[in-house]
Amino acid sequence: MVGGAGRVASPRIEALIARMTLAEKAGQLSCFNDEIRPVGAVFNPVVSPRGAEAMLADIRAGRVGMLFNGYGVAGARRAQAAALESRLGIPLVFAADVLHGCRTIFPIPLAEAAAFDPDLSRRAARAVARETTANGIHWTFAPMVDVARDQRWGRVAEGAGEDVLLNCLLASARVEGFQGPDLTKPDALLATPKHFVGYGAVRGGMEYAAVDMSMAALRETFVPPFAAAFAAGAGATMASFTDFNGVPVSANRPLLTNLLRGDLRFDGVCVSDYDADRELIAHGIAADEADAARLAILAGIDMSMQSGLYQRHLSALVEAGQVPIAAVDQAVRRVLILKERLGLFDDPYRSLDPRAERRETGSKAVRDMARTVATRSIVLLRNDGDLLPIARRGKKLALIGPFGADRANLNGPWCFAGDSARGIDLATGLRGAMGDPASLIVEAGSGITEPLPGGIERAVAAARAADIVLLAIGEGADMSGEGNSRVEITVPAAQQALAEAIAATGTPVVVLLRHGRALALTGAVRDAPALLATWFLGEQTGPAVADILFGAVEPTARLPVSFPLATGQQPWSYDRRSTGRPAPDAEPMAAGRSHWRDAADRALYPFGSGMGYTRFALSDLQVPATIAAGAIVPVSVRVRNVGTRRGEALVRLDVHDRVASRTRPARQMKAFQRVTLAAGDETRVELRIAADALALVTGDGRWQIEPGMFDLWVDAGAGTEIAGAFRLE
Ligand code: NOJ
Repeated sequence: MVGGAGRVASPRIEALIARMTLAEKAGQLSCFNDEIRPVGAVFNPVVSPRGAEAMLADIRAGRVGMLFNGYGVAGARRAQAAALESRLGIPLVFAADVLHGCRTIFPIPLAEAAAFDPDLSRRAARAVARETTANGIHWTFAPMVDVARDQRWGRVAEGAGEDVLLNCLLASARVEGFQGPDLTKPDALLATPKHFVGYGAVRGGMEYAAVDMSMAALRETFVPPFAAAFAAGAGATMASFTDFNGVPVSANRPLLTNLLRGDLRFDGVCVSDYDADRELIAHGIAADEADAARLAILAGIDMSMQSGLYQRHLSALVEAGQVPIAAVDQAVRRVLILKERLGLFDDPYRSLDPRAERRETGSKAVRDMARTVATRSIVLLRNDGDLLPIARRGKKLALIGPFGADRANLNGPWCFAGDSARGIDLATGLRGAMGDPASLIVEAGSGITEPLPGGIERAVAAARAADIVLLAIGEGADMSGEGNSRVEITVPAAQQALAEAIAATGTPVVVLLRHGRALALTGAVRDAPALLATWFLGEQTGPAVADILFGAVEPTARLPVSFPLATGQQPWSYDRRSTGRPAPDAEPMAAGRSHWRDAADRALYPFGSGMGYTRFALSDLQVPATIAAGAIVPVSVRVRNVGTRRGEALVRLDVHDRVASRTRPARQMKAFQRVTLAAGDETRVELRIAADALALVTGDGRWQIEPGMFDLWVDAGAGTEIAGAFRLE
């Protein structure tokens, strides 16, 4: 018997399906917020809470297939015992939104993406999986692989940013890391690339808004990270709750069946988003709950999340002939295969071992990994006059801003089970690294959105007394993530006023920006001589920032999202298509050319910006003159460390298709490679692009390789770019 788009179900599963009642089938297709072991803060709106005892009774009655967002082994064992008491004893599977750490909080995914390092993301996901599974969770609703080109959208924080290739590489790395080599192992965490598909393109960047896009854009930009995650073996996906071209994804059969199961050959479980089937009523697509359940199951939603719609309506819909039993059986088969792949039929108590919970929670290994990722996520965007790194002793430092001594805003969105009190704030981290901790003064100066009475005066006095100001400003933890779109992606006015007052003292300022998205920087923040993008770095924030500030670690990260000149440019990405009237680089505001009246069509810091404390030079670019379709384009370049410190170069290759049947991105990254070099050393770096990666999607949605000339640029940071070209045959 066939499950998904081709996975074969075992005789055990087929035998179970044959014995299941309709109500038991609907139960396996229903999942709920875990009220047996709830955590304090829950993002989702509370929909039909039932309490632990009622939930346990439902589980015993075979009415629940999965619980999510509960943590801890003891409660999970209780719930699992109840499932095993049900008539067929089908085990529960436990899922959770583990986006950047479970108990030990890592940098937000967008920050981690700045490391441009798939291997690091793979290892980080593995470390997170060990801790998460030890807390009684088998399945994460991650990675979020929505390409995000509108920084107003709060959920930019959860993903890998604006670039397709980086999204693809990190999607597969994270899936491999979460799941590990063997899904039956107690530390394997089933992955859920989400939200299928197009959510990142919500209108105006507004949360939950509609999406309208061409099928070519969908396939070329938004689908590839899902394809990469599925190729890496992801066992589940989550349907987006947004409207796509007039049909909400939860009811969109062309997307959830034709594209997902047909073209992409995905054979895992497709879970709805939270209450998304019921939201079809608010979308005006379903007349009532039963209608919504019918649309969702027929579109291809295997599991209904939280609404209880399948639990309440699926049996009657089948009995009334409105939903074929085959559709229900297929969804049940996929859910049971998922449980079998996780080894739950053989060991329902897998990942529910209290000793592992004690051993893995906050282990040294997971905390060390969180620190490594945090350090490698910090992007050095500006460093006039080599203000950084700062000597560990001999300088008086003033740490000014609402985030200097703050722990509540280290983690950012999506970290229910993390304890912010465990985080290491900037002041503590810096003092721990300083030769003379007493030479650090800390002054808040402002609240996050409101001024502090007398705050600016005290901060100005601290700045005057210091050699260097470290200005810790930006967004609070609740300003990005789900439900936190913004119309102005600026530093809040109260903090901007603080920054202006500090700049006026003349003391050199290093901005330590905290943020869950790219921000539109203005005034004294934009013009400060040194600027570090520090995102939400999680519990190791303080030590990681100290590593970079004092030069113990070389900054190696790059921006995964472009910092615009102004909010009004959104959506904007570096790989936008060329226009008929592009403005010349040298004259970005040329009359009659593409730009806004008050801003050029460029970014303040485009995708890929970032530097280290050393400098590199490139030379001797070698590109073959012609490439055969199907071949690899071997490009190589000499890289030399021309600075005075050891450092890591990120060599990146972009291409542009000169003439094609459709307009192409002005440039788009196709490969990158890192190399570490001592001062004065030099090496040749090879970058390889598969000719397939030069294909485009036609108007009717097919990938097609078109022969012709391609421009190519290789760079290793600002000012190092060299250009070449080749012909694809
Ligand atoms: C809503 C979010 O959109 C989704 O990403 C998340 O996994 C679910 N809620 C469950 O918490």
